[in-house]
Amino acid sequence: MPSNRVRLIAGNWKMNNDVPAAKELAEGLVEKVPVNGVEVVVCPPTIDLACTSHKLEGSSIKLGGQNVYWEEKGAYTGETSCAMLKSVNAEYCIIGHSERRDYFHETDEDINKKAKALMAAGIVPISCCGESLEVREAGKHVEFVVDQIKKDTEGLEISDPSKYVIAYEPIWAIGTGKTATADDAQEVCGAIRATLVEIFGEETAAGIRVLYGGSAKPENIAGFLEKEDVDGALVGGASLVAESFAAMVEKAGE
Ligand code: PGA
Repeated sequence: MPSNRVRLIAGNWKMNNDVPAAKELAEGLVEKVPVNGVEVVVCPPTIDLACTSHKLEGSSIKLGGQNVYWEEKGAYTGETSCAMLKSVNAEYCIIGHSERRDYFHETDEDINKKAKALMAAGIVPISCCGESLEVREAGKHVEFVVDQIKKDTEGLEISDPSKYVIAYEPIWAIGTGKTATADDAQEVCGAIRATLVEIFGEETAAGIRVLYGGSAKPENIAGFLEKEDVDGALVGGASLVAESFAAMVEKAGE
């Protein structure tokens, strides 16, 4: 991995942890996550952002949202704006997770608007992409993900490549215990990098972090991180236990 990309481990709590549980997990993370040069982000549910932010104060662990709406404010019941994320010191936000695409019908156009709104607000998008099992079995996974990347990044202006992150998460490997192999991850992450070179040029593409996600855990993370175009992980299940998340950060620092 070229030295200009700082490894990033991001935890996606999904719809887990009420306020007391979020506080407890945040306390455990502050105690256990090592400070080792790896960038560490946790993304709690919206209701837990404020209390988690409070617990993380003074630590090296950063905060992220799981979703955002691109409008500034107004009659958008149930939504969260960039300014609201900023008000709890969230520096990152996951967008385009496959669960949002599948269950909430988010489109690449929505994801593109979210990325633009976040970047204008100074929040780093962690923009997710990834293919279904059906697409993978048809051998069309690279083509499918490249197409998502092109649509999701359309018209984006990236002046600082460390402020835009992509997470490749094959849907068939999310929460299933079925991981892609490190070579599977590299095949797609490498194709993502090549697409970023086409869109943004060599220098910018070389600075954008591409994460792997999908049943990543302490036992398998090292294999992914050895790969040239894998710069970290987006972690679901294993981010809900302070010890296992801390162990992944530890491994990423080795
Ligand atoms: P998982 O989830 O680690 O539980 O597979 C990853 C994700 O969906 O971000």
